Amino acid sequence: MTICQKLKLALACSAALLPVAASAAPAGDAFATAAHLHRGVNVLGYDPLWKDPARARFQPRHFAIIRKGGFDFIRLVLQAFDHMDATNRLDPEWLATLDRVVKQASDAGLSVIIDEHDFNACSDDPDACAPKLKAFWQQIGERYRTAPKSVLFELLNEPHGKLDADRWNALLAQILPVVRASNPQRTLVIGPTNWNSLSKLDTLKLPPSDHNILVTFHYYEPFRFTHQGAPWTDNRDLHGIPLTTADERRIGADLATVAAWSEANKRPVLLGEFGAFDKSGTPIADRVRYTATVRRNVEAHGLPWAYWQFDGDFIVYDINHDTWVEPIRQALVGKP
Ligand code: BGC
Repeated sequence: MTICQKLKLALACSAALLPVAASAAPAGDAFATAAHLHRGVNVLGYDPLWKDPARARFQPRHFAIIRKGGFDFIRLVLQAFDHMDATNRLDPEWLATLDRVVKQASDAGLSVIIDEHDFNACSDDPDACAPKLKAFWQQIGERYRTAPKSVLFELLNEPHGKLDADRWNALLAQILPVVRASNPQRTLVIGPTNWNSLSKLDTLKLPPSDHNILVTFHYYEPFRFTHQGAPWTDNRDLHGIPLTTADERRIGADLATVAAWSEANKRPVLLGEFGAFDKSGTPIADRVRYTATVRRNVEAHGLPWAYWQFDGDFIVYDINHDTWVEPIRQALVGKP
């Protein structure tokens, strides 16, 4: 006989004695969400739209073009810290733009990952970042609490530098309850430190009872190939690096490692960014081969992916001429 039965308060007792983790566990399963994501593309991260909608390169009709072009979700890249006031309130006009974009994308039949992309600010100064990131998710969480489940939240792009595994896990432990308070059923996207590196998947500490987390990683290996000539990296002076068959084998092995991690840890996984820099003189045939190789391997394991990116650099769409970069699009959505 339990204490509760003795006290004849069975009902009240059984609720009160439920383990906290079980009663607080968010409903929903990220495997179910992941099953609706297949092929995605990163959009709008560096578009003038956010500062002045009148100067937008990306137009609402591009969402239908993306959907018809063979993609079913977007990763919406937001650098929101620039749009906060001194008390970390998000600019109402910026929020109105965000509302419009999320609605237009959803109306076009696309799932939307809202990705907070202030990764450099957060990685350089985690202490200054924490209140901003918390304020961001408090406001966005409230605002989108009734959004359809095709809207996902990605807590922070590519933590690195001072946001090492320990500090990133500590920051996550602060942010997660903020988001879960308003969005107990939302699928969240979270990746490991070291720029969402697959080698750091094991360091990620996620609440064991929260099954509504889609784990993400980014893949740009071999970096000497994908980022040759990229001015923001140490490879800025590197040119003429070919893609070898050994590289292709390595890509296959790396992606198999991720799939095995997913299986062993019972967490669904998303490849949130991959691609090869387009302004380096690398022959497009090599970039196409690279893109197709990653896509083929990742799809062989049934993992969803998002290409980096629609416009800007690494482009799959040429906004200036309003047309697809067809060889790259074919590498992504054509016959494998
Ligand atoms: C960054 C971009 C960069 C890309 C590839 C993204 O996460 O936001 O600035 O071009 O990674 O390096």
